[in-house]
Amino acid sequence: MPSEEPGASAPLQRITEQTQLFQDEAAQVEDREGWQRLRVRWLGRKQGIVRSLLGQLKDIPAADKRDFGQAVNQLKVLVEERLGGLDAELTEGERQHAQRSAAVDVTLPGRQPVLGSVHPVNLVTQKIVEIFSGLGYSVAEGPEVEDDYHNFEALNFPPDHPARDTQDTFFLEDGRLLRTHTSPVQIRTMLARKPPIRILCPGRVYRHDNDLRHSPMFHQVEGLAVAEGITMGHLKGTLEAFIQQLFTADTGVRLRPSYFPFTEPSAEVDITCPFCSGEGCQVCSKTGWMEILGAGMVDPRVLSGCGIDPKIYSGFAFGLGIDRVAMIRYGIPNIRLLFDNDERLLRQVKI
Ligand code: DAH
Repeated sequence: MPSEEPGASAPLQRITEQTQLFQDEAAQVEDREGWQRLRVRWLGRKQGIVRSLLGQLKDIPAADKRDFGQAVNQLKVLVEERLGGLDAELTEGERQHAQRSAAVDVTLPGRQPVLGSVHPVNLVTQKIVEIFSGLGYSVAEGPEVEDDYHNFEALNFPPDHPARDTQDTFFLEDGRLLRTHTSPVQIRTMLARKPPIRILCPGRVYRHDNDLRHSPMFHQVEGLAVAEGITMGHLKGTLEAFIQQLFTADTGVRLRPSYFPFTEPSAEVDITCPFCSGEGCQVCSKTGWMEILGAGMVDPRVLSGCGIDPKIYSGFAFGLGIDRVAMIRYGIPNIRLLFDNDERLLRQVKI
């Protein structure tokens, strides 16, 4: 900004120089900031160049005042118009830029929607139901809040017998209880229907138990077949067919004598360890076998208690822990992983 005193001949020359200077500076404006700086420098109210040239008017010799004033005004108009033109150019550039960045890029890969998946417990339940449907079984269900009669008494647990303790029952205040196994569904079915009966009862059960392999809520599936002439051979054949479909065709099955109040004889059923095919490994504690279910011939007292004549009919029953099968099938080390609702488990389980 020129600050020298106006000489008598120089004032108009000075405006010409300033005009050239402005044109040079305007040509270099590249963005909104540069435009803003240019505007303040030339049109600023306090120290703008145009304003200060007008301020010099009072010192201009009277003869030159008119020309000088006109020249400054011309410069002012020129500056305003040029700034207006630059403003329009910048606005258009900004608009085009915004449009380009908002445009859809059709070459970008699509977004993957998050897919849900079936919980391992449900996968195993579905598979078991599918296998037994093929053997002519239908699904039966019962309440999770049970009474002593269906959960224990009708299943031949004597009153105050320690067998009740082995089930670690959760009692409700009204004397009812959370069912400790799916066996009461056998009772409900036999009370409601007459043989032949072939049912499968999957569901939640509850026990006062909590460690790496036990959860206070877990899942069982109960099977029951009652008809004339049912034998232990039918039980073994059915379980073999079932287990070989659930695991692999070469899975071995063995029955060990055991005790349940509602079956006689009773058996615990082992399968050859799916991890080492019976060779013996860490998972099966080097035995080559794994216990996976309880079974037996329905005790005649249970049948007659449900109004089924044990002289005519016989039956077998079995009960299996679904969570345990899911843990074996999918190599899940801790039962709580099944109930923690951690999505990562679902993503890791391959169907
Ligand atoms: N209810 C038994 C339990 O929870 C499992 C069971 C064993 C069920 C033998 C049966 C059976 O039907 O015959 O431990």
